Amino acid sequence: MRRTTTTISTETFELANFRWDNLGFDHVQTDYMYVMKCSNVGEFSEGELLPFGNIELSPSAGVLNYGQGLYEGLKAYRKEDGSILLFRPKENALRMRLGAERICMPSPTVEQFLKAVKHTVFANKRWVPPPGKGSLYIRPLLMGSGSVLGLAPAPEYTFLIYVSPVGNYFKEGLKSINLVVENEYHRAAPGGTGGVKCIGNYASVLKAQSKARANGYTDVLYLDSIHKRYLEEVSSCNVFVVKDRTISTPEIIGTILPGITRKSIIDVARKQGFQVKECRISVEEVFDADEVFCTGTAVVLSPVGSITYLGKRTSYNNNGIGVVSQQLYSFLTNLQKGVTEDTMGWTVPLN
Ligand code: COI
Repeated sequence: MRRTTTTISTETFELANFRWDNLGFDHVQTDYMYVMKCSNVGEFSEGELLPFGNIELSPSAGVLNYGQGLYEGLKAYRKEDGSILLFRPKENALRMRLGAERICMPSPTVEQFLKAVKHTVFANKRWVPPPGKGSLYIRPLLMGSGSVLGLAPAPEYTFLIYVSPVGNYFKEGLKSINLVVENEYHRAAPGGTGGVKCIGNYASVLKAQSKARANGYTDVLYLDSIHKRYLEEVSSCNVFVVKDRTISTPEIIGTILPGITRKSIIDVARKQGFQVKECRISVEEVFDADEVFCTGTAVVLSPVGSITYLGKRTSYNNNGIGVVSQQLYSFLTNLQKGVTEDTMGWTVPLN
């Protein structure tokens, strides 16, 4: 494989030979993946880096038959001096442990998770995009890989991490997205698994997402399944509503994913003097909002340009980004990329 060497500031770092200018959110194959197994339910053995490639699974693996699987998503950024920063990896480790408990899987310890993430990023460091071109998306998976025919937790588990350089999740980038409120399908129900990152939560949104896209919308905004009235989240991200100096987001009540970007934006907004409310937000409140935006690891922060509910379309900021959204976006992304000092203590340098 051909390699290029790029000099930025005084440091030199090796980059994969790749068209860095056109990154979207498609999988790009990198050099290595990390694999760790847990055979006697409980403890994971020492993991190893393997060349990226297909994995072997029994057709009767728990993940294939009964969906016993979770995933995480986090990012690594390259600084101007060529060094690499991870954003809040411990939060992902902790969230994976909570999700694993919910669907009866053993999970790596926080230390195992962090070590695995660091090893994987280090081994693939030539795939961390140059500053300003994107980030390295890190995808940890935890799955029931053991064979199981009757419905039960699998007898063996595999933890795997692969990575991919990525750019914008929505093709709109920082231009606004158009959402449609979904009335027929729901993402989650009380007592279900909507609050953890289990793989099944994502298959279940595909139908509504396809319908929305076919009708010209970017994505779907879900309502709660009981009252069909309160905002939950978008297929791949959390949602925030801005009115004057108050920023509201649906409270975490088991049906909403506790997003790490969501949590970070709440802290940033409070630090900047906004009142932040985690509460029930009725769909009518979006008609009156000044700005609406979405947050997620993949999405980062995406301004919403319009929301259509029962055929009525409400638009925001002439389909651009609102002042508050822009302010929060800039603070967060400058911190993530190491452009400004990390006053929140969220970034972890890759040594
Ligand atoms: C993420 O933002 O990391 C997610 O898990 C959403 C996914 C649909 C890309």
